[in-house]
Amino acid sequence: MIIAIDGPAGSGKTTIGRMVAERLGFALVDTGLFYRAVTVEARRRGIGAGDVTSLVQMVGELDIDINTSPKAGRDSPLLTIDGRDVSREAHDPAIAMELSQIAQLPDVRRLLVESQRRSARGDAVVLGRDIGTVIFPDADVKFFFTAPAAERVARRRRELDRARGSATPDAVLEQEIEARDRADQEREVAPLRAASDAIIVATEGKSVHQVFDEVMARLPKH
Ligand code: DC
Repeated sequence: MIIAIDGPAGSGKTTIGRMVAERLGFALVDTGLFYRAVTVEARRRGIGAGDVTSLVQMVGELDIDINTSPKAGRDSPLLTIDGRDVSREAHDPAIAMELSQIAQLPDVRRLLVESQRRSARGDAVVLGRDIGTVIFPDADVKFFFTAPAAERVARRRRELDRARGSATPDAVLEQEIEARDRADQEREVAPLRAASDAIIVATEGKSVHQVFDEVMARLPKH
């Protein structure tokens, strides 16, 4: 069974997706990690988001390994590139601008689609922006999470503070979220959009447990 969860940055997909995957014993495939991996490696090699030819060549050579255990990051690396653990760099707010530029490139997206589908063989909760529309249009159930920008900024703040006592100012986080929202919604290929058959989950003002219960209640029996 494939459970698709799409939505903008900070809408709660990762937290809820992980809980659902753990409860059901499913894999958790966070497709944003593919774009993060490409961005981290491009920066390491000094390749800019405008150099599509070099990026495409690089993506073809890379061995991106996404850990699909819902416990990943706690007892094993979440993301490795050619065997190097890059989980930390992948969530550095400093990569945000290039990340959304790279995620807009149709040639890069095309190359990542197959790897994303391959990582989600079998029973999986799959997180992203275009899962219900492009990656798994036949998913067994599709959710689309929403939350106002201010609440999503506050969630990112808490996440970052928990992860490493971040000193990132709120204004930077706001810009990051707004720029990514705009880029994700306005890009020509696979924009952030709810599939016509997606269940809309408005997470504003709800606790994690409320959202979790709402999602569990809508799952098809299996
Ligand atoms: O979910 P995230 O914040 O880790 O996503 C990182 C970036 O990748 C974000 O700018 C949107 C992009 N993305 C995408 O375009 N399509 C996906 N399926 C997942 C993420």
